[in-house]
Amino acid sequence: MKIEKASASNLENVDFENLTFGSVFTDHMFVCKYKDGKWQTPEVLPYKSLSFEPSMSVLHYGQAVFEGMKAYKDDHGKVWLFRPDQNFKRINRSAERLQIPTFPENFFFKGLRSLLDLDKEWIKPGIGNSLYVRPFVFSSQACVQASPSLEYTFIIICCPVKAYYGGEVNVLIAEEFSRAADGGIGYTKAAGNYAAQFYPTALAQKKGYQQIVWTDAKSHEFLEEAGTMNIFFRIDNKLLTAPTNDRILDGVTRKSVIQIARDSGIEVEVRPIRIDEIVDASRNNSLKEMFGSGTAVVINPIKSYGYKGVNYKLPKLEDPVAKQLKDKIMSIQYNISEDPYGWRVAVD
Ligand SMILES: Cc1ncc(COP(=O)(O)O)c(C=O)c1O
Repeated sequence: MKIEKASASNLENVDFENLTFGSVFTDHMFVCKYKDGKWQTPEVLPYKSLSFEPSMSVLHYGQAVFEGMKAYKDDHGKVWLFRPDQNFKRINRSAERLQIPTFPENFFFKGLRSLLDLDKEWIKPGIGNSLYVRPFVFSSQACVQASPSLEYTFIIICCPVKAYYGGEVNVLIAEEFSRAADGGIGYTKAAGNYAAQFYPTALAQKKGYQQIVWTDAKSHEFLEEAGTMNIFFRIDNKLLTAPTNDRILDGVTRKSVIQIARDSGIEVEVRPIRIDEIVDASRNNSLKEMFGSGTAVVINPIKSYGYKGVNYKLPKLEDPVAKQLKDKIMSIQYNISEDPYGWRVAVD
């Protein structure tokens, strides 16, 4: 692997108190190109703009997939990743579905470690602070033929993220639009999945909802996942979440929540969830909590949900299960508690 260090760091110029998510980047990036049927020598380079031809394939046919993961610093200055093997496997699952060549595991982890080592000063200690790591791969051949590209570019960039105590959100249950269909690409982190959500989400935002909870495309009767989060419901003392399938992203946080909840003695049912069941539970006061799970905020409590013109409010609780689960996951991520699962991976 080739490494070219930045001649000067931009760290001094960054206002860590006022970071806007995803708009400030560290000094370096990892780049690896695919051509002539194989991945070429990977490089870590100073973060910079790239040039491309207007005919670059991804701009026309959207062969692009990405990942989102985080690096954390503990109180001793040691850097950790959380279940990075899951993100690695998932980007290759996504790539495969988009007919993008899979990326070699040793390139990914060597690149990630070198990058995090060079840019570790960008990770601030303190619970909630982290470095968001964005691996992505796209078709980069200069060609407008509607067929898989012969060239690809794999990149990892990183941005510092400030402690963000995600506020409670209002969500709208999808009755008309769909995010994903059977046999489609819903289970991948394909760029197009996100592009297709922007318009319906903008309409929902006009009605005062921050996110949409997607329902199955066939009947719109079953609850699936939210914009960038999987979704959980607590009816009495039982947690419910939808099973993953080819429409739903197999979230790393989701599977961690399920495991930790079960190991804490909470019953978790993974099964299709009818909207009617949740509305009934709201009406008879057995719906206690609703929350989203995802890398960005770990767990995001939901304040209310809208369905068929009615807004259903969730009760305010003293000690929500969502908060208990969030604390347990974050304690593992920040090396505060034991990690019986082997999820926390040291970077240095
Ligand atoms: C559509 C979608 N669902 C769920 C998630 C949550 O997945 P994870 O917990 O791996 O971040 C994400 C975010 O990555 C997402 O984009």
